[in-house]
Amino acid sequence: DDHILLPKQSQLKDFMSTLPVREGWSQPLIQYKRYWFRPQMLEKILQVQDAYKPRADDIILATQPKCGTTWLKALAFTITNRSRYSFADHPLLTRNPQHVVPFIEIPGLGTDHTDIETLPSPRLLATHMPMSLLPRGTTSSCGCRIVYLCRDPKDALVSRLHYENRVVKGCNLSMDSAFSMFCEGFSPYGPFWDHCLEYWKESLARPDNVLFLKYEEIMADPVQAVRALANFLGVPLTKEEESSGVAQEVARLCSFETLTGLQVNQVGGVDRGNKVYLDNSVFFRKGKVGDWTNHMTQEMGGKLDHIVQEKLQECGLVF
Ligand code: A3P
Repeated sequence: DDHILLPKQSQLKDFMSTLPVREGWSQPLIQYKRYWFRPQMLEKILQVQDAYKPRADDIILATQPKCGTTWLKALAFTITNRSRYSFADHPLLTRNPQHVVPFIEIPGLGTDHTDIETLPSPRLLATHMPMSLLPRGTTSSCGCRIVYLCRDPKDALVSRLHYENRVVKGCNLSMDSAFSMFCEGFSPYGPFWDHCLEYWKESLARPDNVLFLKYEEIMADPVQAVRALANFLGVPLTKEEESSGVAQEVARLCSFETLTGLQVNQVGGVDRGNKVYLDNSVFFRKGKVGDWTNHMTQEMGGKLDHIVQEKLQECGLVF
């Protein structure tokens, strides 16, 4: 088991300095077990290998960044807490969805990893970690539930490029260079397809534990997605809830239109340190399927589709 070979926490930096580094994105990325990470993120991922203790009733929302994490957090939080909060007085009306569900590996400002250990069960958590880098026991023995959300890689890439240029001071990456790096599998948390494929295979092998969703499917029928999520999470909508339109209310509250209309998602933000300030509005841009056509040529789109199809097809995963 690879995890056993991990260095002691005090030696993480030394260990990381032995790994491959490559420049091109707003920051050099480090490669660990075929995935590329920002150095700070890899350090945290290595730290939580020991710190995170999975529980059987954990719910983990797994994504690559820019695939709809914010949306999934909003949906899962609203569904699992629906008996606690009314829609008229809901936490999402005054809190950014990113802040109501903590990441396993990204501590909030002024907190550390012990934070999630003190949360009462059942915990609702998020992660960008590839499945093969989830801390020991998360998948096999513990039985917790994982919802994975992926997205058309062309739209995810466009979203990533805009995000990177907006969040990182002085970054002015071009579509062309982002595109060629992404096609090589060189992107934060990439190769994009490997990240999807690991969770996809697990969802086929253990459908009761891993639910695989696509951004485009939720967009096509958000109400049905709410039902599917509620069923998978073990809190299906009751007959009364169905007839009083709860699924529709959840979908509406979590919609791009509703969330971007709230003041909390327009102003303010969190200082992440390292001169990075995350505006609350940064997680919302267009919220559309197919925006790639406004930023890439058809030829580029075809090329990326072809690469991704080659990688995913044999496993039956298509975008
Ligand atoms: P775009 O840049 O294409 O608009 P993440 O939350 O994983 O960082 O992903 C961000 C992407 O999801 C952005 O995509 C953002 O606009 C979109 N998004 C955020 N909230 C959304 C919502 N409630 N519904 C649909 N899309 C949403």
